[in-house]
Amino acid sequence: MPETPFYIHNIKLTNFKNFGFISLDFSENLNFITGNNGIGKTSLLDAVYYTCFTKSYLTSSDLLVPNFKDDFFRIESNIVLNTENQSIEIKYLKQEKKEVLVNKVRIDKQAEFIGKYPCVIIIPDDNQLILGGSEVRRKFIDSTLSQLSREYFTNLVIYNKILAQRNALLKSFYENRSFNKDLLDIYTQKLLECGKIIFNYRKQYLQKFVPIFQTIYQQIFKGNESISITYESELLLTDFETVMSKNEQQDRTAQRTTEGIHTDDLVFELNNFPIRKIGSQGQQKTFLLSLKLAQYELLKLEKQVPPLLLLDDIFDKLDVERISSILRLINTDRFSQVFITHTDEKAIQALIRENEIQNYKIINLGPLQK
Ligand SMILES: Nc1ncnc2c1ncn2[C@@H]1O[C@H](COP(=O)(O)OP(=O)(O)OP(=O)(O)O)[C@@H](O)[C@H]1O
Ligand SMILES: [Mg+2]
Repeated sequence: MPETPFYIHNIKLTNFKNFGFISLDFSENLNFITGNNGIGKTSLLDAVYYTCFTKSYLTSSDLLVPNFKDDFFRIESNIVLNTENQSIEIKYLKQEKKEVLVNKVRIDKQAEFIGKYPCVIIIPDDNQLILGGSEVRRKFIDSTLSQLSREYFTNLVIYNKILAQRNALLKSFYENRSFNKDLLDIYTQKLLECGKIIFNYRKQYLQKFVPIFQTIYQQIFKGNESISITYESELLLTDFETVMSKNEQQDRTAQRTTEGIHTDDLVFELNNFPIRKIGSQGQQKTFLLSLKLAQYELLKLEKQVPPLLLLDDIFDKLDVERISSILRLINTDRFSQVFITHTDEKAIQALIRENEIQNYKIINLGPLQK
């Protein structure tokens, strides 16, 4: 077992998505969540994710989270962290501020909460990390670094706010055919301050991340293809001040800040070609799993707390060998509490037998809760 235990032993959901009310006890190791399509397996993982981040992984707006028949939801999780029992309660009522209570004490700032309860989630839609636009990959880096450093998280929040304000200013200059350089410079200066901090974190983080990722891809998945991740940032070539002054005219015409850490990207290659274009579905999925497991390893290493691992429908498109590799891997003490969803309970039981899995619980969500 890892030195610092961290797990959820019970969760109670009220009006969370399709659940009316449900109370579930979990194993501190492996949890298999089974049941038919639409029963709420993904929603349950999202509720666990919500506990760790006070927001949904699937729905960007809280408005879609309460059961359609109601206007509030509540999540109550009883967790163990460092041998200490803690309760996390999240209450939401439409049109009101969300309430987060840890051991009945209200937490007012998200920054106080984020990173305390590390968690890594993998859902089918995450293939957007490979197939989608650069903002998905930035979000992936941001989600780890925000869990690792409050300085990163706060600077990112400020950067995004200033960026939106600077863009609005550029737009108003354009529309009013006016220009006030001193005013623009105030925003540029603030962007530079936060941007440099963010860039340095990202650069250092990727230096650690890439070798871990390579090892996982090659050792665990026995992938013998050559794979690479390259960090792409304007700031690797030129310092941020130069980028901003060079772009001033261009920004005014485009009515937005055209370059900065908000245009950073990661380039994923397989045998020197973009994996998005040439990778098979299984190879892409293996790449994705390796990305997320490397995220897991680094979080665990840096925080000295094993993150929760939430795996939604990950077996789809993977061959039997890769499925077994994953199951054997998560059955080792490298991982702590893991949640795996799958429609077919019988298939899960067979996999458990074949891979000699111990310390697990199967939770069949059964018929839909009304
Ligand atoms: N706010 C909400 N209120 C009520 N129902 C909702 C809400 N949001 C989503 N649902 C519904 O909840 C159900 C459960 O969805 P979920 O994605 O958790 O199912 P699942 O068990 O993961 O299914 P699958 O096996 O197809 O992945 C779906 O019918 C979905 O439409
Ligand atoms: Mg699902």
